[in-house]
Amino acid sequence: MKEKIVLAYSGGLDTSVCVKWLEEKYNAEVITLTLDLGQRDDFKEIAQRSKATGAAKHYQVDAKEEFISNYVQPSIRANGMYEGKYPLATALGRPLIAEKLVEVAEKEGATAVAHGCTGKGNDQVRMDVTVRSMNPSLKVIAPVREWSMSRDQELIYAKEHGIKINPSNSIFSIDQNLWGRSIESGPLEDPRTEPPNSAFEWVTPPEDAPDTAGYLELGFVDGIPRTVNGVEKDDLELIQYVNEFVGKHGVGIIDHIEDRLVGIKSREVYEAPAGLAITEAHRDLEQLVLTRHELSFKAGVEREWAWLVYSGLWMEPLRFALDSFIRATQRRATGSVKLKLYKGGMRVVGRSSPNSLYNVKLSTFQSGSTFDQSSAVGFIELWGLQSRIAAKKAEEVEAGTNAQEYPKRKPSQTLKQKSK
Ligand code: ARG
Repeated sequence: MKEKIVLAYSGGLDTSVCVKWLEEKYNAEVITLTLDLGQRDDFKEIAQRSKATGAAKHYQVDAKEEFISNYVQPSIRANGMYEGKYPLATALGRPLIAEKLVEVAEKEGATAVAHGCTGKGNDQVRMDVTVRSMNPSLKVIAPVREWSMSRDQELIYAKEHGIKINPSNSIFSIDQNLWGRSIESGPLEDPRTEPPNSAFEWVTPPEDAPDTAGYLELGFVDGIPRTVNGVEKDDLELIQYVNEFVGKHGVGIIDHIEDRLVGIKSREVYEAPAGLAITEAHRDLEQLVLTRHELSFKAGVEREWAWLVYSGLWMEPLRFALDSFIRATQRRATGSVKLKLYKGGMRVVGRSSPNSLYNVKLSTFQSGSTFDQSSAVGFIELWGLQSRIAAKKAEEVEAGTNAQEYPKRKPSQTLKQKSK
């Protein structure tokens, strides 16, 4: 019996060539797997293409709900942003694809799984690490990393093997799911060049956005957005709605000089209207309900969380532990935040929460404040104590007036002896 290999299949040139290449090189039966993560693809066509390319079997899995509840929502709670800019869309999708590859491989009794990642990116790391953490007995094959064919050579290979490829010859390399669209290559490789409007599908160019401002009120429960303008929506519907509404107002484009895990700096452009808007609103809500101590500690946790996710360590125990901390902070993250959107600009204009720590009786400039200003005097005395003493000492150090308090240090003999 032939060996079975389960291949993560997008229907594009790379993975279509992978089907044939795996069959030839390993004399194997190739089973393709396509996940619906909310990317706007024609899944029927992908299934047909898989069959036409010679795959023995094709799986299509709708993983949208699972993607949202197990990956996107934890990221919302963590304000997940790599280098403060990238909402991690692709990075969150990969471990789920890897997980499903393992599931299908186990069901089919396959000995290996395969993916179309190159040897230069982050995606290979995310896929390989997740598969191997979940099932160490499975082999992971990355044909594109091995075959070193250029795009032109791939096209020739496809022609020779009768592989039909998608005629949409986009100059960009695209990866998308419901949390964002990653756009690379082509004219974007020159970091000086403004991305052409043809790169974008989700976000209206700000100059063409509506002339009247749009308002979006997001209602959060335990850190997760549940309502839009007071109306409850299911998870998927909510993210789709926000993507569309925010994108229509010209908001959601990110232009990022990114540090890849393998050390390469790359210019990455993203469309992530929902990712940006929901994170902005969630951060603002936290600012209202969490203490300054929680906020400052959580900022460090968020940075570490985003780094683990970006760098392919979704399965790392530390990520689970950080999630537990983050969950604990979200018990009070209930309330609503109103965003105003206008021609590419977005800003929070109002927020409220039953757990708000904001107390107008304390902060008001009007008379009748309950804050006792006289207690500030003693507070300031102690608050600045160390800093005041240190500032005085620093002056003495500069003036050399404190030097006599210390014995002069004798030049060390040991170094001299050694050098002899
Ligand atoms: N730089 C992003 C990341 O590492 C996007 C990668 C996009 N992947 C792709 N195959 N086009 O998450």
